[in-house]
Amino acid sequence: MTTLDTRPGAAAATAPGADPLAVWPASTAESPHGGLLVGGVSLTEIAESHGTPVYVLDENEVRERCRTYRNAFPDAEIHYAAKAFLCRALARWVEEEGLGLDVCSAGELELAVTTGFPADRILLHGNAKSPRDLGTALRLGVGRIVIDTPAEIARIAAAVGPGGRQKVMVRVTPGISAGGHEKIRTGSDDQKFGLSLRDGHAQHAIARILDQPQLELTGVHCHLGSQITDVKPYLVAVRRLVGLMARVRDTHGVTLPELDLGGGHGIAYRPGDPALDVTALARGVRAELAGSCAAAGLRVPRLVIEPGRAVSGPAGVAVYRILAVKRTPGRTFVAVDGGMSDNPRPALYGVRYAPRLIGRHSPADSESVTVVGRHCEAGDILAEDVSLPADTHPGDLLAVPVAGAYHLSMASSYNLVGRPPVVAVLDGRARLLVRRETLEDLRARDVGL
Ligand SMILES: Cc1ncc(COP(=O)(O)O)c(C=O)c1O
Repeated sequence: MTTLDTRPGAAAATAPGADPLAVWPASTAESPHGGLLVGGVSLTEIAESHGTPVYVLDENEVRERCRTYRNAFPDAEIHYAAKAFLCRALARWVEEEGLGLDVCSAGELELAVTTGFPADRILLHGNAKSPRDLGTALRLGVGRIVIDTPAEIARIAAAVGPGGRQKVMVRVTPGISAGGHEKIRTGSDDQKFGLSLRDGHAQHAIARILDQPQLELTGVHCHLGSQITDVKPYLVAVRRLVGLMARVRDTHGVTLPELDLGGGHGIAYRPGDPALDVTALARGVRAELAGSCAAAGLRVPRLVIEPGRAVSGPAGVAVYRILAVKRTPGRTFVAVDGGMSDNPRPALYGVRYAPRLIGRHSPADSESVTVVGRHCEAGDILAEDVSLPADTHPGDLLAVPVAGAYHLSMASSYNLVGRPPVVAVLDGRARLLVRRETLEDLRARDVGL
C-alpha cells in the first residue's frame, strides 16, 4: 500500500495487527463505556457542549511535533506551513516553540502578524501573488519573499523602491516527482509552481534578481510535493540545488547562504500507513548537504524546511454525529453531519480515513461500512471498509483522527452548512479557538436582491 492510498476501497481502513490508536494524538486514552479522551478531555463531552461537527486540536501534540523538528534539525530554520491550518492560537504555539511561518496570502500573513508573530520569521509564497499580498508583505516587513515566476522580479523590486532592500529566495522545480497524489506533486517541470532547473528558467531568474539592487537573494527553494514518505527525493533535491548554488557561485561570484527544502513530510492517516521518519530525514539531508557542498567547494548553507501537515495533521480530530444509516444489497452507508465542506481531501485526492465510533460500547458484531458525508456529491466519502458495530445508528458519534491539516483550511460553505468550530484541548481542559460559522454569518455576506 502506498502512503496515501488513492484507490477508493483499495485497502481496509486499518491494516491487520496495527495499533488502532497509532494515528491518534499521543494523549488519546480510552475511557469506560466506549469514551475517548484527547488531551484529557472526553470527545463525547466536547460534542455535547460544542455541537457537531467539531474539530478538536491537541495543543501538546502540536507543540511536541514542533519540538521533534527542533531536535531533529537543531541548526535549521523550521517554518510551519500555515496553509495546513492557521488560527491565532496555533500561530502562538508555533511561535513559542521557536518555529517560523510560511504563508501564502495577505490573509495568513495579517492574521499571524496581528497575533504577534514576528514578521521577519515569516516567508511569503505564492505562484500568483496579488498586489495586496506583496503590499502587505512589504508593509509588515516579511522575512523573505519566495519568487515563483519571472514577472515578480521587477514587480517586487519596483514595490520596494529606491533605497529599499527586500530579502528574497527563488523557487526552483528540480525535476523530481514525489508525493502521495499527482495533484500534490510540485517538484516536476511543466506545472504552475516554480522555475525549472532543466530549461534554464531558474538560472535566468537568478541572474535577473542579482541585478536588482532592491533585492537580496538569500537562497534557493524547492517544495517537491506533499505526503512524501521516503527520504530519497529530498536527497536528490539537495544534490541538484547545491549544484545550482555552485553554478551561481561560478557564474556570478555569489555564494548563497540558504537552501530551503520546503515541506511535504508524509504522515499516516490510517494505522499501518507509512510515514516519513523526520530523524532519518534530518540525518540524510545533513550528510547529503555536507557531501555535496564539499564536492562543490561550497560552504554548507543554512537549511530551511517548511513542514505543515506533519505538525498539525495528527493533532486534530474531527467529531461527527451520525445522521443516517442506509443498507443496500451490497453495502452499508453511514452518513455523518459533515463531510466535504469541512474536509475536501477525500473528494480531491481520494484519501480515506479510519474513523471510530465513540461514546458507547456495543454488544453487536461489527460490519464493514462506508462512511459518507452529508453533501450533495457522490464523491463525499470519508472512509471505506470501516469496521463499525452492526447496531450503529443515527445519533451515534464518530471520531476521525489525523484531521488537523488541510481540512478546515480548505473548508467551504458548500450547501450552506457552516464551517465547524475548533476546540483546543490541554491537560484536561477544553477551550474554544474558532467558533462555528452560523447561518447568520453566511446570510450577512449575501447583500443583494
Ligand atoms: C511551498 C510549500 N511549503 C510547504 C508546504 C507544506 O507541505 P506539507 O503540509 O505537506 O508539509 C507546502 C504545501 O503545499 C508548500 O506548497
